[in-house]
Amino acid sequence: MKTIIEPFRIKAVEPIRMTSHEERLQKLKQAHYNPFLLHADDVLIDLLTDSGTSAMSSEQWAAMLRGDESYAGSQSFFRFEKTVQEITGLPIVIPTHQGRAAERILFSLLGGTGKVIPSNTHFDTTRANIEATGAEALDLVIAEGRDPQSMHPFKGNMDIAALEQLVSERSGDVPAIFCTITNNSGGGQPVSMENLKHISGIARTHDIPFFLDACRFAENAYFIKLREEGFADRPVSSIARRMFSLCDGATMSAKKDAFANIGGFLALSDDKLAQQARNLLILTEGFPTYGGLAGRDLEAIAVGLEEVLHEDYLEYRFASSRYLGEHISERGVPILQPPGGHAIYLDAARFCDHLTPAQFPGQALCCELFLEGGVRGVEIGSVMFGRHDPETGEEHPAAMELVRLALPRRVYTQSHIDYVVEVILEVFARRSEIPGYQIVEQAPFLRHFTARFEPLK
Ligand code: F0G
Repeated sequence: MKTIIEPFRIKAVEPIRMTSHEERLQKLKQAHYNPFLLHADDVLIDLLTDSGTSAMSSEQWAAMLRGDESYAGSQSFFRFEKTVQEITGLPIVIPTHQGRAAERILFSLLGGTGKVIPSNTHFDTTRANIEATGAEALDLVIAEGRDPQSMHPFKGNMDIAALEQLVSERSGDVPAIFCTITNNSGGGQPVSMENLKHISGIARTHDIPFFLDACRFAENAYFIKLREEGFADRPVSSIARRMFSLCDGATMSAKKDAFANIGGFLALSDDKLAQQARNLLILTEGFPTYGGLAGRDLEAIAVGLEEVLHEDYLEYRFASSRYLGEHISERGVPILQPPGGHAIYLDAARFCDHLTPAQFPGQALCCELFLEGGVRGVEIGSVMFGRHDPETGEEHPAAMELVRLALPRRVYTQSHIDYVVEVILEVFARRSEIPGYQIVEQAPFLRHFTARFEPLK
């Protein structure tokens, strides 16, 4: 059959509250033109993030009832541990309340002034946790990964020559090599197995541990199956296992590819590092058999990790993001190409080419999508990554002006996506009228979460 269906039936539903244009205008004004400050109840289709927003399956809900809430040695932990070990092949599994907690623990042990930790592209929390230790977070994605129009099949790949050069010049300063699969900050683009093998080879030659930021590992494995020679007939679970066999450890946010609403883990192969990590875990997360999670969360993650490797699901997942990307790009809407696994990124600089970066085209586009149809995306541009000089009042723009439309897993159906396409096309038709914005209030760091805006006249 040609039609790719949602491979599930819907057992429980969450009503969407319809709103009028006037109401949305009022809500947006009350939120100071910052979609982060909207109440979720006023949003019709929420594409702010794919993190923690998945619909859980009936099997996950059933497993939650089985959650063993014992403080120490809970059965739920052992089920969770066994699943992670089977999927990754990594022997040591430390649960954390979400991905950034695993990052904070790991970098507290590996970071420090004078150190440099390379990756294809560090996600913001990863970068922040590295920098908080005084170390440098270095992005070494291939040049195609920085070009929104390049159709390279693995735009998340690491620049191997740049990595070689770094470790041969400063190997003593590199406590770990990271790679984010898929590359969220670079458009949800995958990393090839060949690239992972090269990174692993360099890491082993220089005796440097290699870690995966594995939040979207199943999506990356499915991209490899579809695009890399020699993998078409291999099960995704075996591709995933092969990816993990190349690394020495992984950080994971279970809020992504484990379909959980909360949770994460640090998986390791080095006993000594694991012992130090557990000591830190106890300080802030909890005892090593629960690590900041309830037993029921561990159960939901264990089931979710198995479900995400079902290929019917992955086929549907990629069909949804591709469907959204293709239906708008064929009508001329500029997007970051090719469509990523978990999100479509609108190129706001080209969409609103009458606005300068200092007029925040991404923020402007986010506001319009909400006003037009109650769709919430997130600005990934000069509001999030630009810099404001408090002395001169000058704005230093980001490299790209993007709006990310992230697709929560198993939540929206094709007609929801059709609606989003229509909203985007309506806004695109009147794009020259979209006003720019100015910031009227901002925090000194991570300003995008709380900044207040005004439309320019
Ligand atoms: N690494 C990547 C690649 C991520 O995308 C995220 C979270 C994290 C680490 C941190 O995990 O949120 O569980 O602490 N990304 C979310 C997003 C927030 O919207 O992309 P966390």
